[in-house]
Amino acid sequence: MKTIRIITILFVIAGVFVIAASAAEDQNKGAEEMTLNGGRKGDIDFPHLRHQESLTNCMICHNMFPQKAGVIDTHKAEGKLKSKQVMNKLCISCHRAMDRDGKTTGPTSCSKCHVK
Ligand code: HEC
Ligand code: HEC
Ligand code: HEC
Repeated sequence: MKTIRIITILFVIAGVFVIAASAAEDQNKGAEEMTLNGGRKGDIDFPHLRHQESLTNCMICHNMFPQKAGVIDTHKAEGKLKSKQVMNKLCISCHRAMDRDGKTTGPTSCSKCHVK
């Protein structure tokens, strides 16, 4: 009786691990490269995958907006995000802070991000 119960528990634990592992693999990571709408200043080529690899935590960015294509534009249109909020509070503020610490990071000057 006791061994059967232990075996059952072990199977349940193994099952949970299998489910957790496949959920991690199935996570939609989105496009590797994207073009963000930079308004009159010109679009921004955004290396999404490189950020995922170097930052590892998705929520650094996706706390500010969900994991959905075009969401920055729709949230700006709906007033859920202010114009340039993502740019200033997320992109530039991180690049600037890392720059200050002498780390490899992304651009802080307008024309290095915005391409016409
Ligand atoms: C440095 C910021 C940043 C990080 C970190 C980040 N993302 Fe994103 N993600 C973005 C931006 C910007 C968009 C585009 C939003 C838009 O189109 O308005 C986006 C869009 C997406 C989309 C929808 C676009 C598509 O192609 O389907 C998914 C899914 C997504 N991210 C998943 C993830 C996951 C999973 C992680 C972590 C492994 C992650 N992101 C980490 C910035 C980031
Ligand atoms: C690290 C990349 C980056 C840098 C550097 C950068 N921008 Fe942006 N910019 C963005 C992103 C991403 C958006 C779109 C999201 C948003 O509005 O926050 C944007 C949006 C804009 C918009 C359009 C806003 C709107 O709602 O129509 C203007 C104008 C703009 N930037 C001007 C500038 C100027 C001027 C500079 C230099 C002082 C600059 N940007 C530097 C990434 C950058
Ligand atoms: C928390 C920190 C962080 C945030 C937030 C962040 N970045 Fe970056 N960015 C980096 C780092 C680190 C790199 C260098 C990655 C590498 O080369 O592996 C980078 C590189 C880049 C590059 C590549 C420059 C080149 O050499 O080709 C661009 C463009 C860029 N970021 C734009 C953005 C935009 C646009 C946003 C906002 C949507 C953003 N980043 C948000 C940390 C950040």
